[in-house]
Amino acid sequence: MLILGLESSCDETAAALVTGDRRVLAHRLAGQEAAHRPYGGVVPEIAARAHVEALEPLIAAAFADAGVTLADVDAVAATAGPGLIGGVMVGLVTGKALAHAAGKPLIAVNHLEGHALSPRLSDPDLDFPYLLLLVSGGHCQLLLVEGVARYRRLATTIDDAAGEAFDKTAKLLGLGFPGGPAVEQAAAAGDPKAVPLPRPLKGSPEPHFSFAGLKSAVARAVGQHSTEDLAASFQAAVIDCLTDRTRGAIARAGRVTALVVAGGVAANRPIREALQGLAGENGLRFVAPPLWLCTDNAAMIAWAGAERLSAGLTDPLDAPARARWPLDPAAEAVRGAGVKA
Ligand code: KG4
Ligand code: ZN
Repeated sequence: MLILGLESSCDETAAALVTGDRRVLAHRLAGQEAAHRPYGGVVPEIAARAHVEALEPLIAAAFADAGVTLADVDAVAATAGPGLIGGVMVGLVTGKALAHAAGKPLIAVNHLEGHALSPRLSDPDLDFPYLLLLVSGGHCQLLLVEGVARYRRLATTIDDAAGEAFDKTAKLLGLGFPGGPAVEQAAAAGDPKAVPLPRPLKGSPEPHFSFAGLKSAVARAVGQHSTEDLAASFQAAVIDCLTDRTRGAIARAGRVTALVVAGGVAANRPIREALQGLAGENGLRFVAPPLWLCTDNAAMIAWAGAERLSAGLTDPLDAPARARWPLDPAAEAVRGAGVKA
């Protein structure tokens, strides 16, 4: 089984070719950091135009890398949401055109499902059900992954996503965009105990995350401490919140095979180490995809396509692009949430 995957929901344009037996034959990616940097964040209109320019050459390059053609693919998987709608439409419409031209099925992939299943691409031994901490620029969720297309949301953020908190903190500290890697780097040279910062919702009986108060506390402390100490103290607070909320979810999840972390923030080494320790304390295996598979990419979309095709799940050519698309439609709305897809 060979799947072409396309990703264009935020600020990475990507194309990949992945087989049903987990071989990544090609994965190409074009970032847009330079185009968005002057604005300190992703500008949707700029992103959509950049996807239009980048996507076709990336697809051609992916086919050349893999030494295959469109006629060889068994399905085309494209991110259909959630995300910035202009960008999502670019990738989804391209995917539909290629699927139609090749006479192969289209798979409209939920970007979050791409992240959620990505650990099974890098780890063939990861079986359902597993507890997933999905931490990215737009999301901070704990999900019980029971199977393909079977996700139960145990917790989400009531305000900012974890990656968003990193990006906003980076902006406050003058570390530029994208912020996560810059904060991690600055934090490595700082004292995590230097600045007393809040741990929103830590110890609370409700299961959710909150990071807005932490960001505001960083804003108040700017100028009174070194950038390194602020970054280290912020990162330590995020780690405390993530581990505390995840500990609660482990207790509520029932039997799971592993604690898994995915999404861009999973690229953060101290966060991975803290979660690994938490898994160990609870006798759980810890799984984190390699860094390139944590941040947005098309291999995870192709792999989700492979998993869905194996399960007989394909989509019609009029599948809609969706700005918002919860993985668990049954999950209750939470107080304060609803801004993020
Ligand atoms: O999954 P992703 O690539 O895109 C979304 O779907 O959001 O995640 C991007 C987010 C950004 O907020 C970025 O700052 C954060 O992941 N990130 C990190 C690190 N690398 C990326 N956050 C903390 N530490 C990192 N090393
Ligand atoms: Zn993502």
